[in-house]
Amino acid sequence: MAMRLILLGPPGAGKGTQAKLISGRRGIPQISTGDILRQAVADGTPLGKEAKGHMDRGALVPDEVVIGLIRDRLAQPDCAKGYILDGFPRTVAQAQALDAMLGAMGTPLHHVVAVHVEEEALVERLSGRRTCSQCQRPYHVRFNLPKTEGVCDACGGGLLQRDDDREETVRRRLSVYRQQTEPLLAYYKGAGLLKELVGEGKIEEIAEQIDRIIGHAR
Ligand code: AP5
Repeated sequence: MAMRLILLGPPGAGKGTQAKLISGRRGIPQISTGDILRQAVADGTPLGKEAKGHMDRGALVPDEVVIGLIRDRLAQPDCAKGYILDGFPRTVAQAQALDAMLGAMGTPLHHVVAVHVEEEALVERLSGRRTCSQCQRPYHVRFNLPKTEGVCDACGGGLLQRDDDREETVRRRLSVYRQQTEPLLAYYKGAGLLKELVGEGKIEEIAEQIDRIIGHAR
């Protein structure tokens, strides 16, 4: 049975960490607009050139750009069994565009899981985050260490600090989240899809809670 899921939450809530776990366990792709945009920046594509300035400032990339990107991605054959959207939608306009797309495809969403974490914990997580330069798996200098320092457990890639993880940019991203993305909680509550949990505690325990929320055992 297909599983179409959104992970919603502020920067640093653990969306990427949890999406990778769910993806591995359930065999459905993680679709992270942040990862896709960072790859485009690294490759120097026209999309990357357009996105870079917005990302470096901690602002959102324009809606039409990310909506077009998601439209192309959801048409790929690996999405037939479902997917986990990580970092999309982030505005009401993006959510409405997604509803229209999924309505036309006849593939409605099953769950929107919102992950809540206190602001100071978010700043601590993001300032200590290190990300694999190849597969984008997130680590943390205190909370989530790789087996070998500086090396990704999953693919052997080198670990780097993201450009937008400096404290000032993190604060800006959190403010953008509150203004532009938080209204989606009410949007999806109104649609009867919202499930909420506190994303503080052990990564594995949070994964188990999400598993229970979205149904059927691993
Ligand atoms: P994006 O890459 O989506 O960043 P984000 O939403 O800011 O989220 P993060 O990746 O920072 O955090 P996360 O929740 O995935 O946390 P993680 O698992 O890494 O977007 C970046 C930029 O791209 C945006 O600012 C924007 O410019 C652009 N963009 C992307 N999508 C867009 C869209 N739809 N529209 C417009 N623009 C868009 O965990 C964080 C850290 O905490 C890690 O170090 C991790 O190891 C650690 N950690 C995780 N869980 C725990 C735990 N339980 N306890 C302790 N530490 C933990």
